[in-house]
Amino acid sequence: MQAKKALAKKSRASRAAKNPKSYHNYIGGKWVPGSGDWLENSNPADTRDIIGRFPLSTGTDVDDAVNAAREAFDGWRQTPAPRRAEILFRLGEILIRDKAQYTRDMTREMGKVLKEAGGDVQEAIDCTYYTAGEGRRLHGFTTPAEMPNKFAMCVRQPVGLCGLITPWNFPMAIPSWKMMPALVCGNTVVIKPAEDTPLSTYNLVKACEEAGIPPGVVNLVMGDGSVVGKRMSEHSSLRLISFTGSTETGKIVASACAERNAICSLEMGGKNAIIVMDDADVDNAIEGAVWGAFGTSGQRCTASSRLIVHKKVYKEFSRKLADRAKALRVGNGADPKVEVGPVINQDAVEKIMGYIDIGQNEDGATLACGGHRLTKGAYAQGYFIEPTVFTDVTPDMRIAQEEIFGPVTSVIPTKSLDEAIEIANGVQYGLSAAIYTQDVNRAFHAMNETYTGIFYVNSSTIGAEVHLPFGGTKATGNGHREAGTQVLDIFSEWKSIYVDYSGKLQRAQIDNKKEID
Ligand code: UN1
Repeated sequence: MQAKKALAKKSRASRAAKNPKSYHNYIGGKWVPGSGDWLENSNPADTRDIIGRFPLSTGTDVDDAVNAAREAFDGWRQTPAPRRAEILFRLGEILIRDKAQYTRDMTREMGKVLKEAGGDVQEAIDCTYYTAGEGRRLHGFTTPAEMPNKFAMCVRQPVGLCGLITPWNFPMAIPSWKMMPALVCGNTVVIKPAEDTPLSTYNLVKACEEAGIPPGVVNLVMGDGSVVGKRMSEHSSLRLISFTGSTETGKIVASACAERNAICSLEMGGKNAIIVMDDADVDNAIEGAVWGAFGTSGQRCTASSRLIVHKKVYKEFSRKLADRAKALRVGNGADPKVEVGPVINQDAVEKIMGYIDIGQNEDGATLACGGHRLTKGAYAQGYFIEPTVFTDVTPDMRIAQEEIFGPVTSVIPTKSLDEAIEIANGVQYGLSAAIYTQDVNRAFHAMNETYTGIFYVNSSTIGAEVHLPFGGTKATGNGHREAGTQVLDIFSEWKSIYVDYSGKLQRAQIDNKKEID
């Protein structure tokens, strides 16, 4: 989801607007400029609106941040988890206090409409409180040992220094998904936000400072993925890299981690399907499809980019969907009446328009509505694309297989539930899926047979809550889950402890067995 190269929304500061505010990295408890150039962050709804300039940090800045994280590590891991959690509760209060400002900042730099940006900040708040609660749990377990007078137990220990690389589409929620569990488990972190949305992560880190997280425990290094992200992935002292972004970049991160035996958790692409059966409440399914396909302008890894619809309701569904999509108000997300904001940058425009072209000319699908970039009047200075619906799509078409990450969805007709499930499973990704039906048997059958990490019944493919695990199968991930208590398994390592109080040597596997002769 995250573009690999430097993104076109930004321009190098040499072409800078007059005196935009400069934002600094946060290393070892100090706000310090990066040692490289600057990157200008602009509003994707109106690129004349310059938000500020942010460091294009170098490898040296990463090294400094890692050193700070190392120095802080012992103090933080030795702080009892309930104490660490108290700081997180304080952080949650600050996030609530400043939610409105963070929301406005996020809409301005990322483009999503205010309601959704508010949801993103709320997800960060939910995650912070939920994870803080874990500070008084962080359960391990005890189990009988195989010898008499011997005790066996298992406890969690922090993994050490963690590198967090986060995307632009959820610029507060996803950093929180990673940072909060890392911190409650006793790790110190270096976080690199996406080039397009540094302000939201800056706001989060500022709040960490105010909450009293000790110097060096959280370090912020902003800049290009190809410099900062690369250096982090290859840094021998970062024991863990947690990455959310494109499958393409994730593979590079994973290879760098494999090279040096680092722990690596990846959350990547999706090509999520909603199945609509002939007994579905079609109007409710339309609402779910519109929300799932066009919310965040389709820039979610959970976006509903495939709508697999039973042929008995296919015509009605396609017509109603196109009518709803045409009526959506596209514009600057800061206007409360707007329903669909811009996409993130020029690279995204080109990629999405490229897929719209592929859909029409290579795949031969029917363009039911949308399909254009909006460039006139209020749209002239931003990255706006009409909500786009393709119909008569077959499962093998490129628009039905590849992640577009924009306001484009495909309606695929199907003749049966089993065929729909086969189509839903027939992509390289496995993040989220959904079914609309009134039949409990069909709902459970689909729930059981779709190979994804998340499944919804009579609801869209988006809308995960922070206390359930989040992640996917196949090319979406590498087996880890974020959120829920399951995320603790990423950010802690198990230590098995045996206490022998027999006062003598007891050899496991030997002394409690009779000889076979
Ligand atoms: C993403 O799509 O990148 O479930 C994250 C959802 C949100 C998180 C999405 N809570 O849609």
